[in-house]
Amino acid sequence: MSKTIFITGGAGFIGSHVVRLFVTKYPHYRIVNIDALTYAGNLENLKDIQAAPNYVFEKVNIVNPEEVTAAFNKYQPDGIIHLAAESHVDRSITSPLDFVYTNVIGTVNLLNAAKELWKDQYPGKRFHHVSTDEVYGALGTTGFFTEETKYDPHSPYSASKASSDHFIHAYADTYELPVIITNCSNNYGPNHFPEKLIPLMIHNIIHNKPLPVYGDGKYTRDWLYVVDHARAIDCVFHEGKTGEKYNVGGLNEWQNIDLVKLLCKQMDEKLGHPAGTSDKLITFVKDRPGHDLRYAIDASKIKNELGWTPSVTFEQGLSLTIDWYLANKEWLDHVTTGDYQQYYNNQYNSSI
Ligand code: NAD
Ligand code: DAU
Repeated sequence: MSKTIFITGGAGFIGSHVVRLFVTKYPHYRIVNIDALTYAGNLENLKDIQAAPNYVFEKVNIVNPEEVTAAFNKYQPDGIIHLAAESHVDRSITSPLDFVYTNVIGTVNLLNAAKELWKDQYPGKRFHHVSTDEVYGALGTTGFFTEETKYDPHSPYSASKASSDHFIHAYADTYELPVIITNCSNNYGPNHFPEKLIPLMIHNIIHNKPLPVYGDGKYTRDWLYVVDHARAIDCVFHEGKTGEKYNVGGLNEWQNIDLVKLLCKQMDEKLGHPAGTSDKLITFVKDRPGHDLRYAIDASKIKNELGWTPSVTFEQGLSLTIDWYLANKEWLDHVTTGDYQQYYNNQYNSSI
């Protein structure tokens, strides 16, 4: 094997797509999936590649520095693609400390371990931090986030991700660690945990449950198909300039209510329901506290400098996503038993 790459959070939604892409595209790399398997981590996401000769899974909680150091000593990684995180904004509002532990302390533990292992011998080494557009705060009805936009996080989740980004820069400035950051917009696609808007709505339409839209539904997000995010990470990890950051987005803005209506239309067609059936489930509920009005990414840097562009339109990506959920009802059943029920009741039952 020519290189060993750690992909943290590789059992999660985006991480599993990054692991699959790297395992299949780079058979000469050893890919080590570093994941604690929290409620969001699921090895079922990787069933198709788990027997690949260049793939290893290692259960590690990045909050624990001893576990992190042991994994670094065991595998001696040349590169780290860091996705492990607490990722859901609503959970960050009820349990902010979990986000500080994993997203801030966990990231610093990984940075320390890389610094210790590489000991200033940086040629061929890279620490790629996968971050979010939420670090930039909220936009009004116009404008875009660029790589120069000032950080202005609002939720505990985005504050923890902004903090982790600052630590990445601090380790570059202070120790010359070879880092790179990507800040991406909202992802959707297969294996998305049904706490997030799109998979939650698909799950609820399948089960004929109310579709909870926060506030007036006019909040706006820029959606990107998860496979295109994985392609962007591959591109930046291999071709990006050390020390730089790259925004990743789909130039694909949707107000939540319009997106939910499009989803209802596609679901009705695929399920053979009369038009308008799923729309009747739409229910406006109590707003998310501190809800950011709009995110929109200017992705011209990654497009112009590295030649990355999304490969599917939103309508195609959404259709592929719905097809995946309809073909993988067992996956959906597995992840929505147990703790999920309690989460769902706490989050929605008082407002629906
Ligand atoms: P996810 O919640 O689906 O997966 C997170 C993964 O991290 C899980 O496999 C989980 O088991 C693992 N994990 C959590 N805590 C851990 C710990 N202490 N130690 C080791 N592993 C741990 O998240 P996602 O949506 O796939 O997001 C992945 C990354 O991409 C995150 O860093 C997130 O901030 C970032 N991001 C996500 C989006 C999005 O739309 N989902 C957009 C931009 C950036
Ligand atoms: O922008 C990138 C971020 O996108 C990532 O960094 C986060 O990890 C990811 O979770 C996502 O954050 P959002 O808060 O934008 O995603 P979520 O799917 O939770 O919500 C999308 C929009 O839909 C948001 O405006 C809130 C709204 N919403 C969400 C849920 C779960 C509802 O109206 N109803 C809901 O039940």
